[in-house]
Amino acid sequence: MTKLPGVPESYWMDTAPPGTPHPALTEDLEVDVAVIGAGIAGLSTAWELTRAGHRVAVLEADRIAAGVTGHTTAKLTALHSLIYDRLRRTRGPEGARMYARSQSEAVERAVAIAAELGVDCDLERVPAFTYTEDPARADTMRAEADAAGEAGLPASYVTETGLPFPVAGAVRVEGGAQFHPRGYLLGLAEDLRTRGGRIHEHTRATGLEEGTPCRVTTKGGAVVTAGDVVIATHYPVFDRALLFARLSPHRELVVAGPLPAGRDPRGAYITPDQHTRSVRTAPHGDGQRLLIVTGESFTPGTGDTAERFGRLADWTRERFPGVEITHRWAAQDNDPTDTVPLVGPFHPGARHTYVATGFAGWGLSGGIMAARLLTALIGGEQPEWAGLYDPRRLGTALREAPALLGHQFHVGKHFVGDRLSTPGTDSVDRIAPGTGAVVRLDGRRCAVYRDEDGTAHAVSARCTHLGCLVAFSAAERAWECPCHGSRFGTDGRVLQGPANQPLERRDI
Ligand SMILES: Cc1cc2nc3c(=O)[nH]c(=O)nc-3n(C[C@H](O)[C@H](O)[C@H](O)COP(=O)(O)OP(=O)(O)OC[C@H]3O[C@@H](n4cnc5c(N)ncnc54)[C@H](O)[C@@H]3O)c2cc1C
Ligand code: FES
Repeated sequence: MTKLPGVPESYWMDTAPPGTPHPALTEDLEVDVAVIGAGIAGLSTAWELTRAGHRVAVLEADRIAAGVTGHTTAKLTALHSLIYDRLRRTRGPEGARMYARSQSEAVERAVAIAAELGVDCDLERVPAFTYTEDPARADTMRAEADAAGEAGLPASYVTETGLPFPVAGAVRVEGGAQFHPRGYLLGLAEDLRTRGGRIHEHTRATGLEEGTPCRVTTKGGAVVTAGDVVIATHYPVFDRALLFARLSPHRELVVAGPLPAGRDPRGAYITPDQHTRSVRTAPHGDGQRLLIVTGESFTPGTGDTAERFGRLADWTRERFPGVEITHRWAAQDNDPTDTVPLVGPFHPGARHTYVATGFAGWGLSGGIMAARLLTALIGGEQPEWAGLYDPRRLGTALREAPALLGHQFHVGKHFVGDRLSTPGTDSVDRIAPGTGAVVRLDGRRCAVYRDEDGTAHAVSARCTHLGCLVAFSAAERAWECPCHGSRFGTDGRVLQGPANQPLERRDI
């Protein structure tokens, strides 16, 4: 395998203080609201609800702020690549305006909270840019600048940016920010606790009974009784509305390394060119900034991630000569078929259950927006943009049909096709140290990983979500499901949902 640059660790996870450990839930509990999942969406929701006077418990399967939010790029802006021209066509000018206002308000909310709580999270105000180097795409940028302006954002079309290479055209929007996402959320969690909110790490929710009240069962056996439940597990682990049919996962890679402060491009940049390139910097000691480059969007469980890391690192070194990559990491988000996040009542019959998902790569402002929206809904209010984000929206169903069918075709291809095709190898002996493959053993498909010491570890190759076959990512040493993006460790434990159960161990 290609030698990969830097240490395989998110800069945010590497540099945040360890944070207060929160005890696992061991006893039954009764609260007003149970929030499942402690990323930006869950923790922000729990914090807003606590501020509004609700008794809240957060249940987190792993550690807080260590999921996608601990592995993001952490730009806060209402300029979400290219969305406004599409929104004004699909949801009308009013839909685009609602989107712009709700997301801008979320950015300002984060800035205000960080200031009010005195959270040390390196928050900086920067303009946001969506650019292209391709002259054929310049008109797309013009149309986006026009639509973003019409939606109420301080947007303009420009051809000059702070990037060290020419662009063919760009949308510039003022009023954005960037921060240290884990630092921000650790501050929020501390404040939540001092206000009487409860946080339980290493507490996986395994069952949800809806009613009055609702009951959430946890892996350790403790049960939480709650008037309302918010599912903020990124990809919903309980799916009563077949949301999996409307969400497709995309994984992205990130590389980072120090840059002399004088070469800081001073802005948050993104381009749809080259499978996405996103650029920002962060404070990094005297005379330096940390350059953070994200890109190579792909479907988890497909293709060669090491090669993609190589391409992203080459691009970074070519565009920012002299940068030595110190960190690399990866994460994924879910794209809804109509590109608008799904935030609100969980399903058509839901009375006390809510969901926040489908952030399409923009869940920092999206998660904070979701927190405000869900707190209002639980408090009996109907914010004006509730309908825009409502997961039960049907008006867009027809327009979503092609994307929906495309996603189902992709899932079907893997569900059936991967079973018919020959597994990667027919013998465990052929698996080299540090790699893995799906092998048929005693008539069953097993996912076998051989560690550096030569010991083979086998688990079932059947994803515990809906049964697709997992594939090995050598660059990340993980089993990935190409259907809806579940990820598992080499020992079978769940790294990322929608799967909520580990891959069964197999003896070989
Ligand atoms: C590479 C990359 C770069 C990005 N950059 C940006 C950016 O610059 N700006 C922006 O706005 N957005 C960005 N995004 C998107 C943004 O990071 C995500 O949308 C956002 O972090 C999602 O937050 P979340 O709270 O939904 O999920 P998470 O942070 O993953 O939180 C979900 C939590 O739920 C927990 N959980 C799962 N199952 C259970 C269970 N059964 N019981 C209890 N807990 C459970 C998980 O352990 C996890 O901690 C980026 C995304 C990627 C992939
Ligand atoms: S993630 Fe759905 S089948 Fe694997």
